[in-house]
Amino acid sequence: MPEAPTTCSITNIAALVTNDPAQGDGSPLGIIEDAALVIEGDTVAWVGPTHRAPAADQTHDAGGKAAVPGFVDSHSHLLYAGDRTQEFNARMSGRAYTAGGIRTTVRATREATDEALAATLAAHLREMRAQGTTTVETKSGYGLSPEHEARALRMAARTPGMEEVTYLGAHIVPPEYAADPDAYTALVAGDMLDACAPYARWVDVFCEQGAFDEDQSRTILTAGKAKGLIPRVHANQLTHGPGVQLAVEVGAASADHCTHLTDADVEALAGSSTVATLLPGCEFSTRAVYPDARRLLEAGATVALSTDCNPGSSYTSSMPFCIAIAVREMNMTPDQALWSATAGGAQALRRTDVGRLTPGCRADIALLDAPSHVHLSYRPGVPLVAEVWQAGVRG
Ligand code: NIG
Ligand code: FE
Repeated sequence: MPEAPTTCSITNIAALVTNDPAQGDGSPLGIIEDAALVIEGDTVAWVGPTHRAPAADQTHDAGGKAAVPGFVDSHSHLLYAGDRTQEFNARMSGRAYTAGGIRTTVRATREATDEALAATLAAHLREMRAQGTTTVETKSGYGLSPEHEARALRMAARTPGMEEVTYLGAHIVPPEYAADPDAYTALVAGDMLDACAPYARWVDVFCEQGAFDEDQSRTILTAGKAKGLIPRVHANQLTHGPGVQLAVEVGAASADHCTHLTDADVEALAGSSTVATLLPGCEFSTRAVYPDARRLLEAGATVALSTDCNPGSSYTSSMPFCIAIAVREMNMTPDQALWSATAGGAQALRRTDVGRLTPGCRADIALLDAPSHVHLSYRPGVPLVAEVWQAGVRG
């Protein structure tokens, strides 16, 4: 008989966000006050008021902290080398963001050793974990050749804690294909896809003026689907474009950025299962206009929040920072922002095992030095994440 897994009870939680409306206060966040949570092995076994907590092998006193599901960062670009400080400085002096700087990072990434790439990835994962993130998606997109894209994705796929991996060969057309972008599209949808598909679950395209147009994007997403990858799209970041409509058309799990939306785009998202993933760090770091999350939510769309962590447009790994900006600048309530950074991210990754703290879910928990999750936006910039538990293990 295999031994029963150890049980551990976290008690004395001031307010536990479960994201299960059937729990606690009955709000979408399902908040239980003076709560306990029992972990069995790597899984949540029980949640409820402390005074009703069942006995466990071990007890951990949360000391009156608030607890939230570990953040689900469903959009990042961590497979890169180099630095774009100069570009950021130029932008803060008035220069516009054009995404042309991606080529600077491509040059540095191609020159980097495997060890250097792996070290950067590991450092970002540690940084994210310390800020409460327990599920991470990341993309290729700074290699832009079959060899360099596959190398990055292979590395991601074998890195512990790097759970969701996305093929973004269609980030921008590399200089060697500048004269023939359609030939590059054919490569991304052909040999490069063949080399990359074994390491990825998702296929992404930067559908934007100056990157990939609607037809090129459709070709790549359709080819990815035929290989078993699920689409997601960088959509409507710099301009009103076809990205959101295309994402809905191909059944993408998520349309990301959504900075420039028409009413028809909002309606299309609301009438689909495609999640609108908003990336407030990007508007912050590019001095762009923030999208209005309330407009999407009132229409009935599902909204996720993510960092978009990358060295160009959003060099932050902090979900708490993104939550705070989304509340202040995107018309979200603290409850909506917390939901989008946890359950919303899980939905954008089609995951049901993370983003909630209910029996059967993975025991991914962030304990906050605060009496409630509202402090994440009420006290912006303050390092409130005190403890992170990942799959039942306190890190
Ligand atoms: O999501 N827009 C495309 N890709 C990234 C930016 C990449 C870069 O500037 O290096 C984004 O913002
Ligand atoms: Fe991105």
